[in-house]
Amino acid sequence: MQLWKGRFSKEIDPKTNDFNSSIKFDSRMYKEDIEGSIAHATMLCTQGIISSDDLGLIVEGLNNIKTEIENGELLIDPNAEDIHTFVEGELTQRVGAAGKRLHTARSRNDQVALDIRLYLRHECDDVYKQLTELIDVLCKKAEQYAGAVMPGYTHLQRAQPITFGHHLMAYAEMLLRDKERLIDAKNRMNYCPLGSCALAGTTYNTNREMTAEALGFNGAMQNSLDGVSDRDFCMELASALSILMVHLSRFSEEIVLWCSWEFKFIELDDAFSTGSSIMPQKKNPDITELIRGKSGRVFGDLTTLLTMMKGLPLAYNKDMQEDKEAIFDAFDTVKMCLTAFIPMLDTMTALTDNMRKAAAGGFINATDCADYLVGKGLPFRDAYKATGEIVALCIAEGLTLETLPIEKYKGICETFDEGVYEAINLDKCVNDRTSLGGPAPQNVLSQVERVKNLNK
Ligand code: ARG
Repeated sequence: MQLWKGRFSKEIDPKTNDFNSSIKFDSRMYKEDIEGSIAHATMLCTQGIISSDDLGLIVEGLNNIKTEIENGELLIDPNAEDIHTFVEGELTQRVGAAGKRLHTARSRNDQVALDIRLYLRHECDDVYKQLTELIDVLCKKAEQYAGAVMPGYTHLQRAQPITFGHHLMAYAEMLLRDKERLIDAKNRMNYCPLGSCALAGTTYNTNREMTAEALGFNGAMQNSLDGVSDRDFCMELASALSILMVHLSRFSEEIVLWCSWEFKFIELDDAFSTGSSIMPQKKNPDITELIRGKSGRVFGDLTTLLTMMKGLPLAYNKDMQEDKEAIFDAFDTVKMCLTAFIPMLDTMTALTDNMRKAAAGGFINATDCADYLVGKGLPFRDAYKATGEIVALCIAEGLTLETLPIEKYKGICETFDEGVYEAINLDKCVNDRTSLGGPAPQNVLSQVERVKNLNK
């Protein structure tokens, strides 16, 4: 049943109704719709706009509807135009005239703008909790692997020695910012549009501050056109989620690489890996590949929202009904990804011997060799050039910086002495990198402490 009967002489064409209806995707906001309606009715009563008898009937009716939807007694009509129509229609059937008074000084335009905000507040909290859990897992692993030397890469070429703990904490930092972005967006979203009505407020003596407060908002939105027109909060949240997915996707890509026989830096638990239907030897990191793939969905949701909004004149336009599928999909996807990713990471083991072996090749201590010459008084550029020549010599002779004899060092640069071997020792290279944010194990442990505190 439509709410907009009076002007029309025919029922809506059924296929058009299917096209027009949003019930398939907005029925998940039934709780928020009811919560908003109760706050609205309470305000109407306090302001003397409806009677307390009507309020009693409305509140009882709405609470019953909520309970019955929850316990499966009441099915949401798939042909209703939207969840707002369904709840109001159901209420009116139950309580008669009082139900018809609920929509005084309100429109579905401010109602939907309210419901999405209320719904997304919970979604933000869910993702926030999951991120907290993920960061905790990272801190735990980083503590465990604070001293596990591995190669750090640039251009996917071995670059300088770091530790696995240091590498993991880089992601913990990114995820902490993701949490902050979510909270920032949530706080900016947390202003109440209810009472903006269709677009131009109302002549009734409403109290918008009262509903804003009752619903836990920071305040009421200050312009009624803005209240019903913008979906910036959806775009902002989808941006924050997209950035989060970029982080998860990069991490996933690294895990895919680390699982390969070429790296073999980690082993995933069997419970979080998959096999092949034909190749018996295979153990595949499907979860991480799916996360890498699903990042595209979330970026798509953001693009949908931006594109949908960019040409709309104020105030409400039906195009905006498209906001919900996009932002709900973004949250659903992120939550699903995190649900799989967290235990997968928690049960993953690092193959620290392989990491160390990889760190021992590829001349990742060449910068330390140059720094050693600097310590002996050479300008860095000269030290850099001499070390470059040493590396070229090692490659030509099939040796490493550790195995190249001291005479050969001296042949290229007089300044070298036996001390070079200690200077290029991998553990020393890592242990000495004590600069703020660097990979020295005690630094990593203090990074972990800091992040744990911020993650509370
Ligand atoms: N189902 C609509 C939506 O999701 C609710 C608002 C309808 N308002 C209107 N004037 N048609 O956007």
